[in-house]
Amino acid sequence: MTMDGKVTTRAFTPVDFTSREDKQHLFQQRASADAVIIGHSTLKRDNVRLGVPEDLRQARIKRGQTPAPLRVIVSNAGKIDNQLRIFKADPEKTGPILIFSTKRMPRQLRSALREKATVHLSKTRDVDLTEMLQILKRDHKVRRVVCEGGPTLFRSMLEHGLIDELNLTIAPYLFGGADATTLTGLSKEFLSASVHCVMTNMRIAGDECFLTYRISRNR
Ligand SMILES: NC(=O)c1ccc[n+]([C@@H]2O[C@H](COP(=O)([O-])OP(=O)(O)OC[C@H]3O[C@@H](n4cnc5c(N)ncnc54)[C@H](OP(=O)(O)O)[C@@H]3O)[C@@H](O)[C@H]2O)c1
Repeated sequence: MTMDGKVTTRAFTPVDFTSREDKQHLFQQRASADAVIIGHSTLKRDNVRLGVPEDLRQARIKRGQTPAPLRVIVSNAGKIDNQLRIFKADPEKTGPILIFSTKRMPRQLRSALREKATVHLSKTRDVDLTEMLQILKRDHKVRRVVCEGGPTLFRSMLEHGLIDELNLTIAPYLFGGADATTLTGLSKEFLSASVHCVMTNMRIAGDECFLTYRISRNR
């Protein structure tokens, strides 16, 4: 995020205001996970594959992990375009895809998406994120999850007490803009309780600061 807490540009373009070092940091986080989770808007806007570079894939194999983490898409409405790049990535090199959505997903999309992903549809209006993590643990042996945002999904997970660590890079920019998306999204509402974090690591590289926090408790 920028020094004033913004995580995307005016036009919601993919994040290009951080360094190569930060991108590498992101890849390392991703490669450490059993599953990577992404919100539907970020998937749509950034059109990411959620892949892992070859050297990190090899390191995973050496550690006895699968070559790449599971890729998990979260969407309440379920209107997911099956032509996004994530669905076109080489299945040998990227992890299987899981979609957690609701019965609101249009019927004609379900079969198309089932050709490319395992689709979980809940009867509830919104995806139950706690249940999603339980399914990942029970059915897919997932222990470590990396959530790559975006801010709406991050905020939901935070409010449900599902985040235990935050990796934050402060980039040397100020964007301003009362309507610009911050780390916890666009909502004007305060969090129901403030979240206390304990800094467990800080590294400076160039003009950026790489921070790791343990989420301590809600107040
Ligand atoms: N700087 C960074 O590190 C960073 C990281 C990630 C993203 N971003 C930026 O953030 C922007 C997108 O932000 P955003 O807040 O709109 O994106 P988001 O959190 O990725 O996506 C929001 C969408 O995800 C689904 N979703 C979110 N919470 C959910 C929940 N609890 N249960 C079920 N589904 C849920 C919903 O999809 P449906 O509408 O399909 O129901 C919701 O509309 C992009 O411009 C992206 O580039 C920046």
